Amino acid sequence: MRMTYAVLRRRRLKRKTANVVQEYSDGWNQYRDYLRKAKTLEDWLRVPGVEDQPGFFNVEGRLSYQSFDHIGFYRRTLLEALRRHFTGISSITEYGCGVGRNLLFLKSRFPQVAMYGYELCAPGVEIARAASEKFGLDCCFSQLDYLHGHSSQYVFPDSDIGFTMFSLEQIPKESQAALRNILHHVRFGSLHIEPVPENYPLSLRGLVGRLDHWKVDYLTGFDKSVRRLGLKDVIVEPVCSAHNPLMFPSLYILNKAQSSLFPNDEK
Ligand SMILES: C[S@@+](CC[C@H](N)C(=O)[O-])C[C@H]1O[C@@H](n2cnc3c(N)ncnc32)[C@H](O)[C@@H]1O
Repeated sequence: MRMTYAVLRRRRLKRKTANVVQEYSDGWNQYRDYLRKAKTLEDWLRVPGVEDQPGFFNVEGRLSYQSFDHIGFYRRTLLEALRRHFTGISSITEYGCGVGRNLLFLKSRFPQVAMYGYELCAPGVEIARAASEKFGLDCCFSQLDYLHGHSSQYVFPDSDIGFTMFSLEQIPKESQAALRNILHHVRFGSLHIEPVPENYPLSLRGLVGRLDHWKVDYLTGFDKSVRRLGLKDVIVEPVCSAHNPLMFPSLYILNKAQSSLFPNDEK
């Protein structure tokens, strides 16, 4: 009930790239200290005393107060989806990689796969590079706005697949343009774990979640944008838990094979 009132009273935000840069540069700067204190990769991948605290989460569709390892849950979801949908790949790029922890996690599981990460905010890139060096996991990071960036800023080779995790959510209206940019730089396809309100359940929490995401100006019309890309295969799966009790994320698997839209870059 309290969450519903809080959402109703919240003022509507207008999300612009400058706000995202400000919010995440500030947020990621705090991770310099966490990285300095991290003794092991595990400490870095889920910061003790910070990211293991109890709170309200969406756990398997239920509102729950507990210490839920949502970070580990999302990474396992990603890993499992990679294994099911894209076997035998040799390179992966994350778009909007933050401080690069998903890629370090993947590199620790797939040492032979090349890992590239693009991130909008300079502090994210700096910290990701420092962490890669500290833990001896060879991942490459570079600054890029994958919505507005010039083609010369895509400094890494095209990769087999790309993915986003809670990054397209920051691009409310132009997610289709962002997806086109990603798909132009991958050979086989992409994976996206994102909050897509049109897939939310028609329960009270699902409806309040839709209102909440509209008020904070998150991703809208994503499903329609994806369908209009002309891809042969679009698979959508629910992600049953989330860090935000009003969020019911979806996993989108986009397969470029025989796409009518990207005929020239099939390799
Ligand atoms: C919620 S964080 C998620 C970070 C990372 N994917 C993870 O799971 O830890 C969203 C990230 O997307 C980045 N981002 C948002 N819009 C972007 C854009 N247009 N280009 C590159 N990165 C972007 C933000 O700066 C932020 O670091």
